[in-house]
Amino acid sequence: MNAIQQPSAIYLADYREPTHWIDETHLDVVIFPDQTRVTARLKITPNAARAVSELVLDGEGLQTQAIYWNDARLTQDDFDECDGKLRLKQINESGWLTTEVIICPESNTALEGLYRSRTMYCTQCEAEGFRKITWYLDRPDVMSVFTTRLEADQSLCPVLLSNGNLVASGSLPNGRHFATWHDPHKKPSYLFALVAGQLSCVKDQFVTASNRSVAIEVYVEPKDLDKCSHAIDSLKRAMRWDEQNYGREYDLDIYMIVAVDDFNMGAMENKGLNIFNTSCVLASAATTTDIGFQRVEAVVAHEYFHNWSGNRVTCRDWFQLSLKEGFTVYRDAEFSADMNSSTVKRIEDVNLLRTAQFAEDAGPLAHPVRPASFIEISNFYTLTVYEKGAELVRMLATLLGPEYFRKGTDLYFERHDGEAVTCDDFVASMEAVSSRDLSQFKRWYSQAGTPELIVSSQYSEAYKTFRLTIEQRCPPTPEAAEKAPFHIPIRVSLLGAAGALPLKLANQAVGDLPEDNTEMILELTKSEQTFEFAGVHERPVPSLLRGFSAPVNLRYAYSETELITLLMQDTDLFNRWSASQELGVLAVSNAIKAGTCELSGDWVNALQANLQRDDLDPAVMAYMLQIPSVNYLHDRFPETDILTLHQTRQDLVRRLALSLADALREKVLAYDMRQPYEVSAAAVAVRSLSNTALLLLAEAKDPLALRESITRFKHANNMTDQLAGLRAIARCQSDNVVKEHLAAFYSQWKDEALVVNQWLSLQATRDEADTLVAVQSLTSHPCFSWNNPNKVRALAGAFANQNPGQFHRDDGAGYEWLANVVLKLNQANPQLAARLVTPLTQWRKHGQRGQLMFSQLQRIQGATLSKDVFEVVNKALT
Ligand code: ARG
Ligand code: ZN
Repeated sequence: MNAIQQPSAIYLADYREPTHWIDETHLDVVIFPDQTRVTARLKITPNAARAVSELVLDGEGLQTQAIYWNDARLTQDDFDECDGKLRLKQINESGWLTTEVIICPESNTALEGLYRSRTMYCTQCEAEGFRKITWYLDRPDVMSVFTTRLEADQSLCPVLLSNGNLVASGSLPNGRHFATWHDPHKKPSYLFALVAGQLSCVKDQFVTASNRSVAIEVYVEPKDLDKCSHAIDSLKRAMRWDEQNYGREYDLDIYMIVAVDDFNMGAMENKGLNIFNTSCVLASAATTTDIGFQRVEAVVAHEYFHNWSGNRVTCRDWFQLSLKEGFTVYRDAEFSADMNSSTVKRIEDVNLLRTAQFAEDAGPLAHPVRPASFIEISNFYTLTVYEKGAELVRMLATLLGPEYFRKGTDLYFERHDGEAVTCDDFVASMEAVSSRDLSQFKRWYSQAGTPELIVSSQYSEAYKTFRLTIEQRCPPTPEAAEKAPFHIPIRVSLLGAAGALPLKLANQAVGDLPEDNTEMILELTKSEQTFEFAGVHERPVPSLLRGFSAPVNLRYAYSETELITLLMQDTDLFNRWSASQELGVLAVSNAIKAGTCELSGDWVNALQANLQRDDLDPAVMAYMLQIPSVNYLHDRFPETDILTLHQTRQDLVRRLALSLADALREKVLAYDMRQPYEVSAAAVAVRSLSNTALLLLAEAKDPLALRESITRFKHANNMTDQLAGLRAIARCQSDNVVKEHLAAFYSQWKDEALVVNQWLSLQATRDEADTLVAVQSLTSHPCFSWNNPNKVRALAGAFANQNPGQFHRDDGAGYEWLANVVLKLNQANPQLAARLVTPLTQWRKHGQRGQLMFSQLQRIQGATLSKDVFEVVNKALT
């Protein structure tokens, strides 16, 4: 690719209001095989604030047929079409612009814009897919009222859907029919959707707080009709929860969800017509694991919550993506916490943040929650924008407290309803209700990188004081070498022999003390600060960063004894888990130093004691038994080779299983597989502990695991247990037995695409010398398709991200294969390809081995790249 053609970046600093507004959008979409005709009639008004007469519209891959201004057909001299822009001069007054284009959804493999998936046509417009449907001002600050007429063959596409309410429909000659939808709410083009195809529908309804009845319709392929009830129940719970917790009611008469098999992401919040990846909406006990059920609940809620945080109040520009995503992830996390176990939800989210988001923040693609520039916005649907963005909202809630936070969200929705706004507007509402100055806090939006907190303590026996000295540092990231100090809320307690001690800062008046004064939020704003507690009558163990009150790396030199005290006695259950992870890190550290892995008896005894307690949530217990992931360990021991870490970890897992064998066997045996399946938090927790115990015993090739893995596989009445059985089989049985059961599983489930994905992932994550060969040959298996992102992620994504032992093979064959996959998908599906390349971008962390990754990146760079892959690869190599 020569320099002139290289994609270029756009900058937040260059933001200007649009030159024109589009008050009304009338679309007419006429679907014929291989040829869909889109006529767009747009009511254009110049933006007085800009006073620019040239109108420049976005369009990609459109075959323009005709253009009219106020019904007069324009000739070649009146407009200029090139490089994805249509330029019209002299649009100084309001008027109607009409364009006619032809597109071909059947050959759209990028799954952006209008495309065909199996028996249906559907759309994905966020972020910039609408321009692949028609000429438009495809930016979120241009909001318009949409009326959409769809026309198609009646038998091929009996169902015709778009946003809003159905206002007309009927038959046409030649076996065709039409439907017209009108959405009364102004919206940006990225929230537009249409669906046409052969779909069955499950109907339900919801009565809102103000007693309006809303029709719920879930559209799926006929074979999936039995897998909709969990999504519908989740939706109704989410609707109620948003009324009760944020005072937000739904605003249309109908809420539709459509399940699509070929989808790049999880789901999309199009106004009144959500489109979902089948993996995030379909669920049944026989085919879906507990994790799958919880994911459906979370994603359905997430998309629903967007109706306010995203649709009613949207983003001014794509740099503000976290305004809607960070806030909505925070909202769905709180919802899931309320519906299930809040500690378990927090553990899961923090695990993801610490293993994956921290790595992103430390790598070449690090960017602030509000990036200052991008080449391709699709590359910024990241863990940083979503998950770290949610942590920022959580910190605001912590700093303000629940009452002011709710006032702040109320004000935000009230002030900005119907507007396209910025992250600053969100924080301004929080400032307005609380009269707090959050200007320093806002650095979290503009500075990338994970701050490190270095904490030390000092106890004075004589003065009965306890001091915490906290220093913050933030490593350099691509956008800045030096960072100004962050405003960091640190939730703390001090544990004494009989529990959490009452807290009083040395400079705090007694009258200021809250009722429950055993926990406190310290606000760190300087690079270094000391907090002194008075009246501390015994040397305490500090419980720091409770509930993970800020997305930071905490460093405090806990002794093993202190960690065990936290593991056993902390009154914050999250921090008990956190201590268990730190004990795992300590064990790995000792093993690396000693070259052999001796388990600490105290640690084993503590876990044993916890396993015997019946007042501990079994799901939390299951997480306490997990040694931190290899990726997290690699962050903690950057000098140690990844394969050494992987082997050390595996060794530790086996030894832990052997030491805990009796207690683990008890958990396996105590489980009654015949109980009818339920997804309650309690039932999920029991399965989780029993299956974790089974898998640990399988790692140790325990005789009980040899027997029980087969039993669980054969006699399970749900997918969670069956898959746990199969995973255990894969860890402890002979090769032939493993193959036999994999084959049996496939023949049982070959017609269930989502189960087949699990089957592919399980094979891709096996730590065996022939795994890569097996993965390569699975790409020619009849079940596999390069055009289906779920299949590609299940195989290639799982291999590269969840199989450290084989992906990082010494011969570099794992890297080479991943690069081949990226090159194969680079043009066909740029979004997917750019995502898959991520593991290679971490090459700097891998020393010698990193050179092998580096050369694969260079090989990719040599090809003619899509914008998406170009941006990722170039940033990784710079
Ligand atoms: N807004 C969607 C969500 O709920 C994600 C859409 C992602 N689209 C994309 N092109 N990356 O999170
Ligand atoms: Zn979202």
